[in-house]
Amino acid sequence: MTMAEQYLMGAATSELDRMLYQGEMFRPEAERLLDRCGPGPGARAADVGCGPLGILDLLSERVGPGGEVVGLDVQPEMLRLARSLVAERRLDNVRLVEGDAADTAEDKGGFDFVHTRLVLMNVPHSGAVLSAMVALARPGGTIAVQDVDWVTRVCDPPHPAWTALVDLVTELWRLNGMDVHLGRRLPGLLRAAGLVDIGVDAGIRVFQQGHPYHTLLADRAELCRAALVERGLTGHAELDRLTGELRAHLAQPDTVVVHPVLFQAWGRLPGDRGRAAHRPGH
Ligand SMILES: C[S@@+](CC[C@H](N)C(=O)[O-])C[C@H]1O[C@@H](n2cnc3c(N)ncnc32)[C@H](O)[C@@H]1O
Repeated sequence: MTMAEQYLMGAATSELDRMLYQGEMFRPEAERLLDRCGPGPGARAADVGCGPLGILDLLSERVGPGGEVVGLDVQPEMLRLARSLVAERRLDNVRLVEGDAADTAEDKGGFDFVHTRLVLMNVPHSGAVLSAMVALARPGGTIAVQDVDWVTRVCDPPHPAWTALVDLVTELWRLNGMDVHLGRRLPGLLRAAGLVDIGVDAGIRVFQQGHPYHTLLADRAELCRAALVERGLTGHAELDRLTGELRAHLAQPDTVVVHPVLFQAWGRLPGDRGRAAHRPGH
């Protein structure tokens, strides 16, 4: 199975649109992270698993015309859209590279800032991707990771279809070697990867009827239908029943959905702390 096939979400057009929407939704969180530990003018930055845009636009602005941003992704469909957005927005300092992050020929030790968002939780080989990110950073360079933890994944009032679908998707992720509680483990993983000066933060979002993310669990479960059925976790009729019941519950005006916590963790490779292109104080 290729890396792209392993990536359960695939790259259907609606999924690409959802990722762009999500990137826009989480822009304030990304800006806050970059204010804390992001690259300064002239720096070289990488967004690993950038998808159709990731935070390439934010990094492009921060490093400026004297810097460079590399967007790396394993799926050609993602990069096709990324290419057109980068051209449309005239992000001249952004270069896109197709390939598996765990096996990239990009300049090892050449980046001041290496970032990834919502990638590690969705791949079975997150350790290999994190090690590759560390290898890309220069001594003193920063690694920053944003990823979720499903600890808060509840709806209120509670509903059995919600619980059943969370359990199904959690089990699918587990069977594929992925950890739905990765968020809380990020600081420990960064420390184990040899980083120092580790920081962590987290944010939470709550949705009501009318917000596109209010129905995310039902949408996701349907997107993963083939994998859920193939793994013998459910059948088509059962999945239809659960998503139907959940959608009816979510359509009630007082039903509230709590999104997974978005964790942010960052750290620095030891050595060579004081490069000009790096944000002072980190
Ligand atoms: C959920 S999307 C997140 C996209 C983007 N980081 C964002 O926040 O909008 C995950 C992305 O990681 C990419 N990906 C998964 N495994 C990868 C790997 N081994 N190397 C590079 N990219 C990978 C997928 O192709 C997909 O575009």
